[in-house]
Amino acid sequence: MESVMDKIVSLAKRRGFVFPSSEIYGGINACWDYGPLGSKLKMNVKQAWFKAMTQMRDDIEGLDAAILMHPRVWHASGHVENFTDPLVDCRECKARFREDQIPQSQCPLKPSKCPGQHDKCNLTEARHFNLMFKTFMGPVEEDANVIFLRPETAQGIYVNYKNVLESSRHKVPFGIAQIGKAFRNEITPGNFIFRTREFEQMEMQFFVKPGTDEEWFETWRGIRMDWYHQHGIRPEKLRWHKHEKLAHYARAAYDIEYEFPFGWSELEGIHNRTDFDLSRHQEFSGKKLEYFDEETKERYLPYIIETSAGCDRSLLTFLVDAYREDEQEGEVRNYLSLHPKLAPIKVAVFPLVKRDGMPEIAARIVADLRPRMEVFYDEKGAVGRRYRRMDEVGTPFCITVDSETLTNQSVTVRMRDTLEQVRVDMSQLRTWLEERIC
Ligand code: GAP
Repeated sequence: MESVMDKIVSLAKRRGFVFPSSEIYGGINACWDYGPLGSKLKMNVKQAWFKAMTQMRDDIEGLDAAILMHPRVWHASGHVENFTDPLVDCRECKARFREDQIPQSQCPLKPSKCPGQHDKCNLTEARHFNLMFKTFMGPVEEDANVIFLRPETAQGIYVNYKNVLESSRHKVPFGIAQIGKAFRNEITPGNFIFRTREFEQMEMQFFVKPGTDEEWFETWRGIRMDWYHQHGIRPEKLRWHKHEKLAHYARAAYDIEYEFPFGWSELEGIHNRTDFDLSRHQEFSGKKLEYFDEETKERYLPYIIETSAGCDRSLLTFLVDAYREDEQEGEVRNYLSLHPKLAPIKVAVFPLVKRDGMPEIAARIVADLRPRMEVFYDEKGAVGRRYRRMDEVGTPFCITVDSETLTNQSVTVRMRDTLEQVRVDMSQLRTWLEERIC
C-alpha cells in the first residue's frame, strides 16, 4: 500500500509542485525545487502570512534583511557557541546520526552488515557539530573572511530594530515581520520538505515592555494557532507542545505541532526570548539598543516574543492536510481541499465543446478574471477529466460555458469539495468568485 506521504510526494512531482533539486545529476540530498504550481502555492502561503502580520495590523512592520551578516552577529546570538547537535557515528555501518534521534533512525545497511539497532550498537562518542554553513566573503579563503549563511532570519530583525523603530515612529509594543531563506547543515534531514538544509522562515519578533511579556506570549500563541485554523487546517490535527528543555535564548517556548503521516511534529515555535538578543547585541556591538518611553520617561531593553514558522513546513502541512480521496462513479478521485486563498489556481474555465462560440465566450471570461486571480483555461478532452485534473491540484472552482450560456448568459460553477454545481450569471461571476477567494 502506498503511504499518504508517498502519494503526496508523487503528486507533487507529477503536477509540478515540488521537484528533487538538481535531479538530472541524481539529486542532492534534502534539497527541493518548487515547480510551476508549488511556487504559486508557496507565494500564496507567504502572502497570507505577511498580510496577516503587516497589512491587517498597524503595530507590525515588514523587513527584508540580507542573508549574509557581520560574523559577530552569530557570536552575539550564541549560534557559534551553542547551535550544535550531538553527532555520533556507527562503527559498523559508518552512518551518522543525531544522538537524540537514534531510536527513530534507520540503518542504511540493515540487515546485512550492521545489527541495525543503533541504540545498542558500536557508536562513537557524541561530538558537537555546528549546524551553520560557513563560507568566505571576498576572494581570500582565510579565517578572517569566514562568514555564515544565516540559520534563522530573526537576527536580521534584532540588528535592525532601532532602524525600524526610528523610521516608522512606532512605540513599544510593536513588531517586525520577515520572510526569508535560512540554512542549517542538518545531520538528519528528511521527510520530503519537512527538514531540509535550505528552507524559508516566516518570523515575527514582537518587542514589548518587560513585565508584559507573559501576557503577549499568550496573545501570540492564540493568534498563531488561529491563523492555521483560518487557512483550513483541521483543528484536531494541531496541538501544543510545551518545551521543558529550553533553547539558550528562551524563557518559555511552545511549538504548534501537526499530526503528519510520520507523527506529531513541530510546525511553528512561539518563544519568549526575553531581552537576551538585544542585550547580547548591545554588548557585542557597543551600540545602545535601549528604548526610551516618552510617557513614563523609562529606559529599558524590550523583551521579545517570537513567532517562528517554516514556510516549506507550512506548505507541507497545507498539502498533507488538504489531501483527500473519495469515490466518484466507481473511481477513486483524489483532490486537494486547499483553502481558496492558498490554492495555486483559483478558477478553471472550460468551454464544454470547441464550437458554437463557446471557446470565444470562455476566452472573454478568462480575460476578465485574469488580472484579479490565477485562471487556467482548458478546452481539451472530456469535461469530467478536466474537472479531475483541477481537483488534483486543488482548484476550488471550475466554470463551464455550455449550451445554456448561449441562451441566458449564465455559466456552471462547480465546487471542488462538494461537487455541487450552481449557475451564475456571467455579469455577476467576478464578484461571486472574489467573495469566495479573497
Ligand atoms: N528563530 C527561532 C527559530 O529559528 P526553530 O524552532 O529552530 O526556531 C523555527 O525554527 C521554524 O523553522 C520551525 O518550527 C520549522 O517550521 C522551521 N525549520 C527549522 N529548521 C528547519 C529545517 N531544517 N527545514 C525546514 N524547516 C525548518
